[in-house]
This record gives sequence, structure tokens and C-alpha cells, in this order.
Amino acid sequence: MKVDVLLGLQWGDEGKGKIVDVLTPQYDMVARFQGGPNAGHTIEFDGRKYVLHNIPSGVFNTGCINIIGNGVIIDPYILMGEIAGLRQSGIDVTRNLFVSKKAHLILPTHRALDFMNEQMAGKGRIGSTLKGIGPTYTDKIARKGLRVGDIIGPGFKEKYEALKQAHLTQIRAFGFDPETTMPGDKSLSDYEAMWLGAIEQFKELNFVDSEYFINEQLAEGKKVLAEGAQGSMLDIDFGNYPFVTSSSVVSAGVCSGLGVSPSKIGRVYGIFKAYCTRVGEGPFYTELFDEVGDMLCQNGHEFGATTGRRRRCGWLDLAALKYCIMINGVTDLMMMKSDVMDGMPSVKVGIGYRVNGKVIENLPFEACTENLEPVYREFKGWKHSCADGKITEELEEYIRFVESYLGVPITCVSVGPDRTAVIYRNK
Ligand code: GDP
Ligand code: IMO
Ligand code: MG
Repeated sequence: MKVDVLLGLQWGDEGKGKIVDVLTPQYDMVARFQGGPNAGHTIEFDGRKYVLHNIPSGVFNTGCINIIGNGVIIDPYILMGEIAGLRQSGIDVTRNLFVSKKAHLILPTHRALDFMNEQMAGKGRIGSTLKGIGPTYTDKIARKGLRVGDIIGPGFKEKYEALKQAHLTQIRAFGFDPETTMPGDKSLSDYEAMWLGAIEQFKELNFVDSEYFINEQLAEGKKVLAEGAQGSMLDIDFGNYPFVTSSSVVSAGVCSGLGVSPSKIGRVYGIFKAYCTRVGEGPFYTELFDEVGDMLCQNGHEFGATTGRRRRCGWLDLAALKYCIMINGVTDLMMMKSDVMDGMPSVKVGIGYRVNGKVIENLPFEACTENLEPVYREFKGWKHSCADGKITEELEEYIRFVESYLGVPITCVSVGPDRTAVIYRNK
């Protein structure tokens, strides 16, 4: 069997959590392959809403195995809080949740470093979620990080102390007081006490050599869905560097983040909103600063699932989408949130950029840090995306144009936050 992949093609928050939950009944296992608690994946059903950060979105389907792969980074305090929250709602995820021993740990001092780096960057800040993502992946690459397996190995306390002290030295060297250099209202030592407490509960979870676990499942004919976090425009290599996250968000990241070979990758589901959003700093070519942008934000409830920040909103950017489809090898497209645009008299899509008087459809190197001038095509708006579960004529026209520009079929249209609000289209 192959690993199918579901990932975001914009700047994150495309609706990945919802669609993973919708697809999970078709799979035996859902596996996160990168990112950490910077992710906020929302799932809604039976009038209830859940937001997951470190836990895969397959957990609401009993019987599905959920894996946190080696490419993910974990804050045990956040993870155990999530598990406790779900337990309060009557959902026990621990039996079917497996954690890679090779996943790296986010230490309290990683969060302090993230906060310090952003403070020092001033206007040049990334707009990080302040979950410690950058510093943790930095330590991983620098071969200094601590991993899940270290917790149950010898000398964990000493290894933890050594890394913590190295971080404290760094923080003090830049003139910051580590105790107060933390996001939120907790001091570093308060957070550390909670974190060390969480480690004791975290130890009780199922730690596995996940690369063997996943490959054995595939050999037994089990179906695996890899769940992406963030979006390709935030990828460390192909996003708007340096305004990106610190992991391989794209489909190639599945191989290194789970330990499966490229020949085992099956379908690649690429998901995008019918418009665009971005949270944090960095270029956003089709961003709207007018009442249309405000309307998208209000109707789409575009406030971060992790940080509560207002998401920047704009028109769909087809040139950027095409770039991400190329990088990921997308086989199926899923369009989300077209209902947010219901009732607009007209809608626009970006079909390229004007650079030195010429219209281009590629993203040049400079597009990482500079805004490009978008070129638009205008369409008639639609009244209801899904009157009687059918796609209206005007929306269908919009979809057909998007498909022909991108060269990949849109097989699914999502028209509301609930898991039932999905319309499938024939290829
Ligand atoms: P993710 O990070 O990609 O999982 O996406 P988020 O959960 O951060 O943000 C997506 C938001 O849109 C959530 O609040 C979802 O409940 C909501 N959502 C998902 N699909 C739809 C849809 O088709 N229409 C509307 N109106 N909301 C949706
Ligand atoms: P999901 O999985 C949207 C953004 C941050 C910031 C940049 C770097 O819910 O789609 P980081 O904390 O990773 O160092 O922040 O990336 N970012 C996201 N934006 N959705 C996400 O995840 C994001 N995860 C990180 O806002 O601009
Ligand atoms: Mg999100």
C-alpha cells in the first residue's frame, strides 16, 4: 500500500484538519510528518468544535491509528493539555496514539529563544507563533536537540540541564532576562515546572520506532494518510524565506518526516481556500486592505486557531498555487470555504504578476521578500455555493477556470466548517 498525503497549498489554515477528519474513515492510520504546536487544525461535528495542535486529526474516528512522526517537534506540556481537553469531551486518544522516539522535544527555553529572536528582529520579525519552532529545529539541525526516546533513556535530566544551560547562556549574552523572556503570562521557571510535570505523563504514551511501525503497516496492506501542517508558501525551502516556518512542509517532507520511501507516496491531496489568508509577516501578493478583505475576514472567521491573531485576507492567487502544485506533485485539489464568498457580486482571482511591464506567471526569487503586483481576472459572484448540495452555475464557472489554469482536477468543494459540508465532483 501507499501513503496518501494531504497538505496545504497556501499559507496554512486551508482547512486541513477538517478534510483529514472527513477522509479518515478511508484510512487505517493518520500520521503527522512535520511541524509542531504552531499548527491549529479545526474539526467540527455534532455542533462541537475541536482544535488540535500536536495531535493528528484522525483521532475522532475510533479505530484509526494516529502517529506523531519523527519529523514533528513536540511540546509535552501542550500535547498533554490537548489530551486532557479531549478526555474532558469524552474522547480518549491515548490507546490509538503513537509517538516517534525520534521526534524532537520543544524545551521551555526553546520558547524563550523564539520570543527573544522575535524581540530582537523588531520590524524584521517573522510573526512566529512563539511556540519554539525555529529554535527547536535549529537545535535538531545543529545536532544538539533532545528527542522523545531520550526521555526514557539514561541521563535525561543531565542532557536536559546541559541544553537548558546552553540556551540560558545565549539568552543572557544578548542582554535578556530568561525568567521574563517568555510569551504569555508565565515565567520561564513556572513553565518549566509544568513542562517537567507533563513529561511524567507523556512517558506513559506509546513511544515507537515509527519508521518501522508505518512500513510494517503498509506491508500488511493498511492505508496511511500523511497529514501536513502549515502550507507550502511557508515551507523552509520553497516558501517566502525568511518569512516561513522551519520545516519541510511539502510532500518531500513526508519521506524524511515518516521514514517512507518516495516510491511509497500515492495520491497527493492539495487543499486551498477559494480566497487566500496569511497570518504573520511576509509578502502576500493578492492581499486586500479594503472592505472586501474585512468581509472575508469576518465571514470566514479568519482568526488564528493557535494564536487568535487576525488573518490577513485577499483574492485567490493562482500563480502561487500552481507553483505549490508543481513542488508537491498534487494529484487532487480540494477547494475550501467558497461559502464565505456567497453573495458577493463579483470575485477576482490572481492569474500572474506584472514585473517590469510584463505579465509573468512564475514566482521569481525576489518574491520571497517583495510584494509583486497581481494581475486579476474577474468573475461573476455566486449566491449559494451549495443550494441543495449542488454547486451553482457561477461557482462551477469559477471552478472550471481554476482547474484549467492549474491543470489538476478539483475533486472536492467544502462549503462549511462541519464535516458534512462537502461536495464531491467527478474528475
Ligand atoms: P487548518 O490549519 O488547515 O486545519 O485550518 P484551520 O482550522 O486553522 O482554519 C480553517 C477554519 O475554517 C476553521 O475554523 C474551520 O472550521 C473552517 N472551515 C473549514 N472548511 C470550511 C468551509 O468550507 N467553510 C467555512 N465557512 N469554514 C470552513
Ligand atoms: P496550520 O497547520 C498558519 C506561520 C506563523 C509565522 C510563520 C513562522 O494551522 O495551517 P513559526 O511559529 O512556525 O515559527 O511561525 O509561520 N505559521 C502558520 N500560519 N497556519 C499554521 O499552521 C502556521 N504555522 C506557522 O504565523 O508567520
Ligand atoms: Mg490552522
